[in-house]
Amino acid sequence: MTVTDHPRYDTRLDRYVDSYAQRTNGMRVSAVRALFAVANRPEIVSLAGGMPNIKDLPLGDIADSMAEMIRTRGTQVMQYGSGQGEPELREQILDVMALEGIVAHPDDLVITAGSQQGLDLVTRIFCDPGDVVLAESPSYVGALGTFLSYQVEVVHVPSDDQGLDPVALVETIARVKAAGKRIKFLYTIPNYNNPSGVTQSARRRLDIVAACRAAGVLVVEDNPYGLLALDAEPIPAMRSAADDVIYLGSFSKTFAPGFRVGWVLAPHAVREKLVLAQESATLCPPVFSQFAISNYLANHDWKGQVVVFRDMYRGRRDAMLSALEEEMPPGTSWTRPAGGFFVWVTLPEGLDSQAMLPRGVDARVAFVPGSAFYADGQGARNVRLSFCFPPAERIEVGVQRFAEVVRRELDMMDIFGVHSPAPIEPHRPAGPGPDLS
Ligand SMILES: Cc1ncc(COP(=O)(O)O)c(C=O)c1O
Repeated sequence: MTVTDHPRYDTRLDRYVDSYAQRTNGMRVSAVRALFAVANRPEIVSLAGGMPNIKDLPLGDIADSMAEMIRTRGTQVMQYGSGQGEPELREQILDVMALEGIVAHPDDLVITAGSQQGLDLVTRIFCDPGDVVLAESPSYVGALGTFLSYQVEVVHVPSDDQGLDPVALVETIARVKAAGKRIKFLYTIPNYNNPSGVTQSARRRLDIVAACRAAGVLVVEDNPYGLLALDAEPIPAMRSAADDVIYLGSFSKTFAPGFRVGWVLAPHAVREKLVLAQESATLCPPVFSQFAISNYLANHDWKGQVVVFRDMYRGRRDAMLSALEEEMPPGTSWTRPAGGFFVWVTLPEGLDSQAMLPRGVDARVAFVPGSAFYADGQGARNVRLSFCFPPAERIEVGVQRFAEVVRRELDMMDIFGVHSPAPIEPHRPAGPGPDLS
């Protein structure tokens, strides 16, 4: 019997609807995940997802050294482990963070199931319903989802091409405090922000830390892309200048996301609370994955691999920027990221990226509408395009299709005076045969 032969007994009505905790009201399907099924169709060029391209990893070598690890230490690496994470790996993470200027003690680290779990644990230990988290504009959709699931009020702080604006930050803190609300922390992605690709300048990093310290607001620095600098060496992390910053790191982009290993570096007392929260969430972070990563760091040229990743992503970024330059109609602008995975496009006045998405899919290109990256409805004129996964030729095709969709929207606006949600004809570009890769 195949799966499709099974009758389905479920119904669209949820009989538990009155039983769920209130916090589930804030839980939404991530816009990126919702797009996943569509974006994975072979005829569609997906500029939507943020999946790292890990096919250049030396899989054979990794397999051999993992097999050796299981043979020699199998009973240890497949056992329960420490709630804080394996000491061996915590020591190695110090070397990783040193590349961004961070000096720390291994006891101030907690290993997590990806930095996503780090975000969850930090929010869990700090936030009660109704508390405020300040988030840079725009912000990582997965972090917003976590904050909302803890019934936190997210207040965005304006940013520009240098990252979060420290003057606006001070004003926002004053305004929120004057309204009698409690700010628990500032959430920021200083390196190659997801989704904007913007890098916070070194000066701003210091100003932001100083402003937060003066106002008694914790800083949470989320840095999964830091080592994927594409033009120059990374700017030192905020945490390198201030040991009261809570720092989130991850192996998802510099090695592989499937292991689900990230970490939080936090002041000692905070770290103790994080371990308690980790133990109640998972007993211990995934032990096998931790040893696999530790083994990879010890036995492979992981720094050389990061250089391989950088070279590959640089080629893709450049392909996307040249294609945008060539294709996009006047009135469109975009960021020029110095690292990471994403370009942030601002559409001509009057266009709405969410309304445009079905026409994009029709034209066989997927992107993420900007509103996904705000908790307050901003971002209608923005689009996140990712250059991490498709090869350069596909990126070029994707941008051509995207530009065509934008041009058609502008035509509609010319004809009707306002943005029109009417469907457009599927785009059939002249080109070399069917698009099946
Ligand atoms: C800014 C940011 N933070 C955190 C994460 C979560 O990463 P992971 O849980 O795989 O470490 C991501 C993933 O895309 C991200 O872009």
